Amino acid sequence: MMTFSRSSDAPAADRPAAWSLVPPLRPHEFHQLRQLLYETCGIRLRTGKEELVRSRLGRRVVDTGAPTFSAYLDRVENDALHREFAELGQLVDALTTNQTAFFREPAHFDFFTATVLPAMARGAAPLRVWSAGCASGEEAFSIAVLMREHLPPDRFAAARILATDVSSRALARARTATYGARAVAAIPATLRRRMVDATSSGDRFVVRDELRAMVRFARLNLVRDWPLRGPFDAIFCRNVMIYFDARVRQRLVERFWQMLAPGGHLFVGHSESLGAVTHGLRYVQPAVYVR
Ligand SMILES: C[S@@+](CC[C@H](N)C(=O)[O-])C[C@H]1O[C@@H](n2cnc3c(N)ncnc32)[C@H](O)[C@@H]1O
Repeated sequence: MMTFSRSSDAPAADRPAAWSLVPPLRPHEFHQLRQLLYETCGIRLRTGKEELVRSRLGRRVVDTGAPTFSAYLDRVENDALHREFAELGQLVDALTTNQTAFFREPAHFDFFTATVLPAMARGAAPLRVWSAGCASGEEAFSIAVLMREHLPPDRFAAARILATDVSSRALARARTATYGARAVAAIPATLRRRMVDATSSGDRFVVRDELRAMVRFARLNLVRDWPLRGPFDAIFCRNVMIYFDARVRQRLVERFWQMLAPGGHLFVGHSESLGAVTHGLRYVQPAVYVR
């Protein structure tokens, strides 16, 4: 089995020998891949990302035995014609950036604790939160532990988190709910022991059952149909829209508005202001909006 570094930043000298088997990515192939990724999941690959694409997708191309990126793309298309979409899924897995962390962008979790959870504690309706673009699940479990810590037991029992992503590979990792020591170090010390337990090997940590039980992971492409029913009390869609253009962002925010309960909050990444988007939400603080 060949092993590749997934990092595009690895200097050429550090790349494994199998790298030499990856065919060149010619301009028309890059163009075709860009189109495909945009049509499939709204992701805009900018010019200059050729090496990144070659590095991320190269292993898959070699593994399938395709001699060129064009031959690989034919295979993806052929699969789609037969409605299997299996290879397209592999392509999406390879080209999406699934970087995430527990309690990433902590100001959001402070706001959630100070403002959203007290309101949730007072209500009577079932509580629903959506982590849209959840990657390997750290965001959803960060929300889950705060709900358990700050909601009365009856309100916690009424709470559910839906966590979705287009990447099956990221979701498979999320469903294990198992993380390494480095990832777990990002959990505030006061919560860590109440959130994860060490596995028998000692170097991996698994999220506690009561938190896992409240999170449902599902594959969902944000630019396609959403077979789900709102309303949600909060939607976290952070560090996802940076990959989309203005048209896709506009449509997405409109659809989030429809999915939010009146008074429900939308959290976006701090680098993703909604400045260029027309929407009916009220700005609350950086990267937080309310319907
Ligand atoms: C950088 S991660 C962000 C994870 C997490 N929300 C956070 O802020 O840490 C972006 C995620 O968006 C997902 N994504 C990209 N395009 C998507 C789409 N069209 N539908 C659903 N998820 C998508 C990627 O697969 C990836 O896991």
